[in-house]
Amino acid sequence: MIPSIKIGLIYYFYIVIEFILNEKLIRTDKPGGMPLVDFIRYESGLTGTKIGCREGDCGACTVIEGSYIAGKVHYKTIVSCLTPLALAHGKHIVTIEGLNGATLNPVQQAIVDHSGTQCGFCTPGFVVSLMAHCLSGDTANLEKMLASVDGNICRCTGYKSIEKAVKQVWELTRSRNGDDPVEWMISQGYLQEWFRTIPIRLAGISNQPDISPASPVIIGGGTDLMVQKADDIVFKKIEKAHSLSSKRIEIQDNTCIISGSCTVSEMLESELLKQCFPRLEKHFSLISSTPIRNMATVAGNIVNASPIADLAIFFLALDAEISLENGEGTKRCLPLKDFFKGYKQLDLQPGELVYGLRFNLPGNHDHFNFEKMSKREHLDIASVNTAIMARVNDGKIEHLHLSAGGVAPIPLYLAETSRFFTGKEINGDILLKANEVLQEEISPISDIRGSAEYKRLLLRQLLFAHFTELFPEKTDPIQLIQILQADEKH
Ligand SMILES: Cc1cc2nc3c(=O)[nH]c(=O)nc-3n(C[C@H](O)[C@H](O)[C@H](O)COP(=O)(O)OP(=O)(O)OC[C@H]3O[C@@H](n4cnc5c(N)ncnc54)[C@H](O)[C@@H]3O)c2cc1C
Ligand code: FES
Ligand code: FES
Repeated sequence: MIPSIKIGLIYYFYIVIEFILNEKLIRTDKPGGMPLVDFIRYESGLTGTKIGCREGDCGACTVIEGSYIAGKVHYKTIVSCLTPLALAHGKHIVTIEGLNGATLNPVQQAIVDHSGTQCGFCTPGFVVSLMAHCLSGDTANLEKMLASVDGNICRCTGYKSIEKAVKQVWELTRSRNGDDPVEWMISQGYLQEWFRTIPIRLAGISNQPDISPASPVIIGGGTDLMVQKADDIVFKKIEKAHSLSSKRIEIQDNTCIISGSCTVSEMLESELLKQCFPRLEKHFSLISSTPIRNMATVAGNIVNASPIADLAIFFLALDAEISLENGEGTKRCLPLKDFFKGYKQLDLQPGELVYGLRFNLPGNHDHFNFEKMSKREHLDIASVNTAIMARVNDGKIEHLHLSAGGVAPIPLYLAETSRFFTGKEINGDILLKANEVLQEEISPISDIRGSAEYKRLLLRQLLFAHFTELFPEKTDPIQLIQILQADEKH
């Protein structure tokens, strides 16, 4: 059983939404389902925030969202095209106009110095992303600073000059000595003085009362809902499923409990999870982009029930349990693998919310891996993805959990293949035999992500990749190729 994690429901529907846009306090009764980018551009006249795709892909609409938590404002990037206006309530939203001063700030100057802009359409998004990264205070690492613009696409300049600009910003900020990021950025001309007043002003904004009888649209980060149903929900009541528990990720004894409202970024930054999953950064950096990871929640990924949902595949291999609760406080738990019933069909009753997931932490003999193959390495959904957790003792597999996406109508727990491995020694021949079981268990279809045959081949290769990654001494890739060639001749 997952212990009680209280979930609060904030209701929005034709009620006053209050937030700070750059320096200005906004009080609006515009529909809560309106995309934030439309409010910024068409209601507030701030046209520096651009619209490229309205699907979270291009980063032209990136803004910074500040949340007031325990006396401090925590800043991160979000895409404003996928953010309903209602979710801005109580936040500090910063657009490029809020980052402009009397002269260019050092981030803007770096882009000018390295000719990092041509038509300029993408440039506000790049500047906003880099400024948000500076606001995070985590500027010591160049790779991380480069990754902060992984959600921004430029169609004309070419990325080399932008990379040089990022490097210049890194050189300016890397030796900041842990000063408060806002104070330091004000002192160095990145931000204007009014930034200092934001915490106290945000603290003064109260939660919205529930005054609407309308049945709500439940939203996590909006990164699926706003892509699929943005037009349908503009005038609906938006209800954010959010945890009142301060703990998004909790370890109790040998068990990890993750709140449904935990974002991918929160997991990626969790020291607890990084200790348990040393390759976590590699795995999660394959999921979408920085602003999408800042918004996307665990519950949203699972309830969306996409057959290629990365988090669903990740947690299936951990043999996780999902916890659900209805509005009356009745809870139930079930294995995640039983939650997916058919294509986009779930064991989720009307009114039930996903409260969280729980799984046993990997022990000394446990080995976990996640693999994803997509058309582009970054900012792309999978053609096929898969995860594995193997408990190995004295060279023998005690038990194993294998999951795969893109090869069935649901994110698939491969029960037969997992069972096949029990008691087996790891070697190339066993993998070949396991692949035969696996191929019987999957039913991929041909679609835009690849033909059915291609997906079968991909999953075989990714199964081998799990073993060459986890047990290189027992499954040499060259040896595997030789075994495969011999098998094909046979
Ligand atoms: C540009 C882009 C790239 C992406 N890349 C990837 C990727 O690489 N890998 C990947 O797996 N996905 C990807 N996605 C899809 C998406 O980001 C993820 O599925 C994300 O985890 C969805 O979470 P969310 O909180 O934004 O969901 P939302 O859009 O808020 O919600 C999705 C569904 O879940 C329901 N819901 C939300 N919270 C709850 C709850 N607590 N209880 C019950 N129901 C709930 C909502 O009502 C809705 O039906 C991408 C999306 C975009 C736009
Ligand atoms: S408009 Fe492209 S990410 Fe929002
Ligand atoms: S400068 Fe034109 S799209 Fe980037």
